[in-house]
Amino acid sequence: MTVLGIESSCDETAVAVVRDGDEVLASVVYSQVPLHRPYGGVVPEVASRAHVEKIRGVAEEALAQAFPGEPDPWAKVEAIAATRGPGLAAALLVGWSFAKGLALALGKPLLAVNHMHAHLWSVRLGRPGLRGAALWPQLGLAVSGGHTAFVDCPAPGRFRLLGQTIDDAAGEAFDKAAKLLGLGYPGGPAVDRLARSAPPEARRAIRFPEGRVSAGHPLPEGWRPELCVSFSGLKTALLTHVRRHPPQGEAEVATICASYQTAIVGALTRRLEAALAGGGYRSLAVGGGVSLNGQLREALGALAERHGVALLLAEPRYCGDNAAMIAGIASAGLAGAGEGALALDVDPSLPI
Ligand code: KG4
Ligand code: ZN
Repeated sequence: MTVLGIESSCDETAVAVVRDGDEVLASVVYSQVPLHRPYGGVVPEVASRAHVEKIRGVAEEALAQAFPGEPDPWAKVEAIAATRGPGLAAALLVGWSFAKGLALALGKPLLAVNHMHAHLWSVRLGRPGLRGAALWPQLGLAVSGGHTAFVDCPAPGRFRLLGQTIDDAAGEAFDKAAKLLGLGYPGGPAVDRLARSAPPEARRAIRFPEGRVSAGHPLPEGWRPELCVSFSGLKTALLTHVRRHPPQGEAEVATICASYQTAIVGALTRRLEAALAGGGYRSLAVGGGVSLNGQLREALGALAERHGVALLLAEPRYCGDNAAMIAGIASAGLAGAGEGALALDVDPSLPI
């Protein structure tokens, strides 16, 4: 099935065309990062206005790239898919309404996609070799500016939340540190770059907390405390450290970045370790913007090897928000709602 997918849950306006789950015919992403940079974070109203302005042009560009020279490219599309949640309400509404309009005008099915499921699907994009491989059950980690979730995937299209952050997402922890250290927005890439420039011992120079969630902490049913994480204390620890020892020069900032990043990577890998032990998993799939992090990729490689599971990481261009992952999971026949989707509204807190 060939599906046109739309993503507008946060600050990327994206449209893609994907065939049969993993063959990406086009993936166009308009990043709003420069619009939000002056505010040091995503401003919902700014995001939704930019989606309104850009979505039609991005869709036409994706279609032209997918079917060059085709007189009626819309005829080649068999269904329209879009992110229904989770995300920012006003941002989701733009892509979801645009998708509804297209589906009605073209007389094609509308497919509702959960953004988190799509991040976990992103590891398959451009890799038809993974079709039919013995990769299930799979442990998933979706780690971005909005989410840090550990997910059990017993079979294709089936997802069960095992645990997640109880406050900030890992990407947010990176972004807040960068803001505090004056490294600009978004912070992840800047912290990653500086950490890489520091000597190996810098990773252990300052001890930052790894955000354990106590066994007695009230959690929703089914979440395991050892698979939940809290990143808010980490940010406070950084603030306290910087107040006590204001960094002098780039090398000292780099040491802070390396130690801080080590705490985040340690927090994530320790939980994955707990989930992998005794889970009977055959693969570990990690998607989302933070999965671009060099130290995290390194640690995931070692972890997967130790546990004898296949490590599936998305290609860099599919780590951040994109529409190929939306069209991908939908064109594999794993999106929800089908016929009933036209009656659905967006759901900003759509659960996994
Ligand atoms: O998936 P994404 O593009 O958007 C959503 O939040 O859904 O993720 C963006 C997040 C930001 O917080 C950004 O700082 C982080 O991913 N990020 C990184 C790196 N590149 C992007 N974090 C750590 N290391 C990186 N290299
Ligand atoms: Zn995302």
